[in-house]
Amino acid sequence: MIDWSERYRKGETPWERGAPAPPLLELLDRVNPEIWGDSAVLVPGCGTGHDVRALATRGLRALGLDLAVEAYRRADAYPKAGGESYEVGDFLDPRWREGKRFSAIWEHTCFCAIDPLRRADYARACAELIVTGGCLVGVFFLTPYDPGEEWTGPPFPSGVEELDAVFSPWFEREISWVPEAAYLGREGREWLAVYRRH
Ligand SMILES: C[S@@+](CC[C@H](N)C(=O)[O-])C[C@H]1O[C@@H](n2cnc3c(N)ncnc32)[C@H](O)[C@@H]1O
Repeated sequence: MIDWSERYRKGETPWERGAPAPPLLELLDRVNPEIWGDSAVLVPGCGTGHDVRALATRGLRALGLDLAVEAYRRADAYPKAGGESYEVGDFLDPRWREGKRFSAIWEHTCFCAIDPLRRADYARACAELIVTGGCLVGVFFLTPYDPGEEWTGPPFPSGVEELDAVFSPWFEREISWVPEAAYLGREGREWLAVYRRH
């Protein structure tokens, strides 16, 4: 089990790029803002909050959630960009999501950080937290893998068929594409998708 807070304290955070995910900025420019709905957007596993601030800069209310207290402290220490806030909590814990609803979720490097055996729990959490008609919007790592091999990660790989299968009990895929914009080293390895909650 990974001690995420320790990873932040020790500076072992290769995912930390000091800026929002380029595919998120591409998506914000390209897609009808209707996908974010009219209440708050949840960002699970938000780390130090770059994506949360990018959403807030566009006028969206955004809640960044992270297991790691150290990530929370760093995210919350940034000057506020707009209507954003942060919480420490476990996205997979049903007690955390009790009574909470969001019009959308932005996924970036949380899905690939969790144990692949818990992907159905991740999808259920999204389904319970997003209102009917709301969207799960995400950028996913598309790394081919052999299902017979032992998993190595994080980041744990995934594929389009698997993603569609894991979300299909609650969501329909509406739009998807390989983003043109990427952090250095992630070019062509990511996939943007908007899944609509039915
Ligand atoms: C690979 S890091 C990515 C952080 C951020 N999205 C970024 O790209 O900079 C994964 C993050 O997910 C958080 N995390 C892992 N499991 C979580 C869970 N069950 N609930 C909330 N956060 C979680 C970790 O603490 C870590 O900050």
